[in-house]
Amino acid sequence: MATHKIAVLPGDGIGQEVVPEALKVLGVVAKESGVTFEFEEGLVGGAAIDATGDPLPDASLELCYSSDAILFGAVGGPRWDDAPHERRPERGLLRLRKELDLFANLRPARCFPMLVDASPLKRSVVEATDLMVIRELTGGLYFGEPRGVEKMADGSARAVNTMVYTSREIERVARVAFDVARKRRRRLTSVDKSNVLVVSQLWREVVTAVSRDYADVQLEHMLVDNCAMALVARPTQFDTIVTENTFGDILSDEAAILAGSMGMLPSASLGGKTALYEPVHGTAPDIAGKGIANPIAAILSAAMLLRHSLSMAPDADKIEAAVLRVLEKGYRTADIRQEGTTLLGTVQMADLIARELGALYS
Ligand code: IPM
Ligand code: MG
Repeated sequence: MATHKIAVLPGDGIGQEVVPEALKVLGVVAKESGVTFEFEEGLVGGAAIDATGDPLPDASLELCYSSDAILFGAVGGPRWDDAPHERRPERGLLRLRKELDLFANLRPARCFPMLVDASPLKRSVVEATDLMVIRELTGGLYFGEPRGVEKMADGSARAVNTMVYTSREIERVARVAFDVARKRRRRLTSVDKSNVLVVSQLWREVVTAVSRDYADVQLEHMLVDNCAMALVARPTQFDTIVTENTFGDILSDEAAILAGSMGMLPSASLGGKTALYEPVHGTAPDIAGKGIANPIAAILSAAMLLRHSLSMAPDADKIEAAVLRVLEKGYRTADIRQEGTTLLGTVQMADLIARELGALYS
């Protein structure tokens, strides 16, 4: 049977609590399906800065290059907030995305039926929401040159970031988006700010040109401000959304509200040889170390890993089904707690999901 090497980068805060729970669930998959996972842990983010001074040490990058997939936690925290730009934990994640050419970030947001009331939005608005945000991840403002701060002669300062995209960068993420939309409900919304930004005008042109190869997918263009509004007003109108890096960062956090909690949302970053899987939530310093974080986003990220990197879709389906069953039975972590449900901590929640998963194999 196959052996798959998985780089494990828990990072900081609740990343260190939820990643081991996702590994626990993968352990069940290994036991039941007969594949072998070789987990090797690496340092990233604040944890790496503390140990080596570098948010992405060479050893971690090497580990990622030589693995079949990466399971990532989260990076950052108040302890490193005052560090200089290049020594911030977030730099580790951004560099990893760039080095591995992970240009397409898939962020599904579904409102599970039993969590409809966990969202602060009305039931009539969020019910049946099932959308996918595809965020371009290695271009735009995050990486564009020139960037930096300069002191002016009069003592004032000037800072610059650059939003830049080439037609090739737009085309490749658009193709991923059309491919994904094709496997969903065949509707793609491309989000831009073409009434103001020339970068967005190019974005719109290129996406339109690519759409000629996907006659079966219905394409619409939407301005980002309008999309921000529509996402919380009429989320069920969306199927697949594709957008540039910064817009995608913002819109995918907004979409988290539709799912009830950020603690529910997994993600996959695809492009290069090795893909990376991470919960959308951050390090949550306010609850870190308390054992109450929701492990479901990390567990669903592990399911995406099986689906996209290891061609193990049936096992991914089982993980998702196990999560749903546990939620159906009324178990909740604090972030999705509702009246009449049973409150669990991180480890207990994952234990129940692991047990349900085992039962689904037999
Ligand atoms: C995300 C996060 C990151 C980003 C941070 C931690 C650098 O917000 O993955 O959405 O801005 O991309
Ligand atoms: Mg973000």
